[in-house]
Amino acid sequence: MVLKATVILGLLLAICVKLGAHPVYYMDQGLTAKSSRLEKLEKLVYHELHAFQSRVNSLDLTLSVSLECEACRFGAELIHILFTQNITEKEVVYLVSEVCNVAKIESTRVCQAVALEFKDEFFYVADNLVLTPDEICGTLIGTSCGHPYNPTTFWNITLPATPKPPIIPPKPPKKGAPISRVLHLADIHYDRDYMTGSNTECGEPLCCRSNDGPPAPSKPGAGKYGDYNNCDAPRSLIENAFQHLSKNEKFDYIIMTGDLPAHNIWNQSRSDQLEVLKEITDMLLKYFPGVKVYPAVGNHESSPVNSFPPPSISNKDLSISWLYNAFAYQWVNRTGWLPSDTVADIKK
Ligand SMILES: *[C@@H]1O[C@H](CO)[C@@H](O)[C@H](O)[C@H]1NC(C)=O
Ligand SMILES: *[C@@H]1O[C@H](CO)[C@@H](O)[C@H](O)[C@H]1NC(C)=O
Ligand SMILES: *[C@@H]1O[C@H](CO)[C@@H](O)[C@H](O)[C@H]1NC(C)=O
Ligand SMILES: *[C@@H]1O[C@H](CO)[C@@H](O)[C@H](O)[C@H]1NC(C)=O
Repeated sequence: MVLKATVILGLLLAICVKLGAHPVYYMDQGLTAKSSRLEKLEKLVYHELHAFQSRVNSLDLTLSVSLECEACRFGAELIHILFTQNITEKEVVYLVSEVCNVAKIESTRVCQAVALEFKDEFFYVADNLVLTPDEICGTLIGTSCGHPYNPTTFWNITLPATPKPPIIPPKPPKKGAPISRVLHLADIHYDRDYMTGSNTECGEPLCCRSNDGPPAPSKPGAGKYGDYNNCDAPRSLIENAFQHLSKNEKFDYIIMTGDLPAHNIWNQSRSDQLEVLKEITDMLLKYFPGVKVYPAVGNHESSPVNSFPPPSISNKDLSISWLYNAFAYQWVNRTGWLPSDTVADIKK
């Protein structure tokens, strides 16, 4: 779903879709404007939000799909209006974190961080967007909301005249056939900031972290080996699992299907993501020496999350080569898990 991820124009749209779900929060909020221009923009945004709310109030809210659709169309339209005002990056960051905060979509610090985290991608996509609001909302919400962008609409593919081969049902292996033992690791989501004893119900998308403070007096803190609340995996859990597996099992190879970083997607730098990749590689080398690992990339590997620009995007600030070069180094040069003729493909 790369298209979905890039076209999402993240913030404003996501915020507006969420606003649709909580349309009362942003009413009657005062403006704390910085400059007269910012004040004007802010008034514009709130004016549009109020208009949107009136429209939402007149809708039949039992149909949540149509609400999402209204919110999406509103978001796309608002983005258009702001761009005709020649809005600057700083102004978008300010407005997005302000609306996010006032609408109580996330905590103040998450609102501020998320605006900064996604701004470069947001601006690139907004500047280069070729989709109309109708196509954006048709793609994000579905055909009930617009006409989805579909690059295959006008393609006819002629298949070769080769007939379809007969279906041969697979046969289970014979008794005594050789056996491979394979370890499949998926979605480790290693949180380097996990802290035992911290607050597990912090009201943010990810808790149990060093900056979440202590738990409420009657509540237990985050466990030593993880927690069932909104928490990712601490190092102690991953190391202990690897240690147990390496002591008690023998693997012919390991398949690792991505999503190594934690879910603090509002505040993940490139170096955070690379450090997680390095530390997981360190642990695999330590506990499974000599065992080949066949890795794949998950949507969380990048920074910002879900952002995998194609090779045609070569501008240093936006290109994905920082990540693909690190994969090549960790998986080929450093560990030898993959042969060196894979490097060119990894870097694509
Ligand atoms: C935005 O920039 C364009 C081109 O520079 C200019 O023609 C237009 O007047 C500007 N609009 C506003 C609202 O500042
Ligand atoms: C973002 O991460 C940095 C470094 O890990 C940390 O100091 C800061 O408190 C975090 N900010 C938020 C909003 O989580
Ligand atoms: C593709 O094939 C369909 C069915 O034969 C035809 O109606 C349509 O015009 C073709 N489209 C193009 C772009 O060739
Ligand atoms: C990794 O190996 C390739 C091919 O052997 C080599 O060209 C490249 O410089 C190496 N990269 C690093 C970062 O060591």
